[in-house]
Amino acid sequence: MALNKARLDRFLAQYCQVSRKNVRLMLAQNRVLLNGVIAHDIDVIIDTFSHVTLDGKVIQENSAYYIMLNKPIGVVSATRDTKHKTVLDLLEYPFKNELHIVGRLDLNTSGLVLMTNDSRWSERLTLPMKKVTKRYIVTLQNKLSEEYVTAFAEGMYFAFENITTKPATLIILSDYQAQVELVEGRYHQIKRMFGRFRNPVMALHRFSIGNLQLDSQLPSGLSRTLTPLEVNNIDK
Ligand code: URA
Repeated sequence: MALNKARLDRFLAQYCQVSRKNVRLMLAQNRVLLNGVIAHDIDVIIDTFSHVTLDGKVIQENSAYYIMLNKPIGVVSATRDTKHKTVLDLLEYPFKNELHIVGRLDLNTSGLVLMTNDSRWSERLTLPMKKVTKRYIVTLQNKLSEEYVTAFAEGMYFAFENITTKPATLIILSDYQAQVELVEGRYHQIKRMFGRFRNPVMALHRFSIGNLQLDSQLPSGLSRTLTPLEVNNIDK
């Protein structure tokens, strides 16, 4: 069922094709369970993943899935591709075809990719106003300097999109390596930003999104489900 959010009484009235007065009666008779608990409130808000039963019969039981993948280089962030292996090809969950990708990585970028069937959660992470921080380790062909730090913090004008990038943090880790923190995800953003310095990116790896770190125990190409704590705290 394609339900986002609804009041329980409206949902039941529609599902059972009865009046809301009748729904109140059903609730008073303890016939409705919401997430395993007898429901009494008509105005409680339910969503796509609320578990609802009436007289022991399941009315809605969609599960939400949250997956982290350690994407290898050479795998495309898409659900289908005619040329390359996709991130979906790396998963073995029976529900994998329900998933969508939460923020893509380029073909030659490695690291943390999230997938879910919960579009509200993915919106929390991807809508521009949410400003969730994505962190990357970048290896460059040429030496870094303090100039880069200022340029990234000031933002760069991208004529093609007619936008200036939001302030980004660049931390120099060594002559050829930096940590970059972005709060947006423009097309090839990091490569284009270093392109301003004519400094090609040799390797790019995303290691965190919001408060979630790529699991260091997760080998390249493998995935795991997120814990409820990881799901809830990612953007706190
Ligand atoms: N910036 C890029 O250039 N590529 C990515 O995959 C992510 C950020």
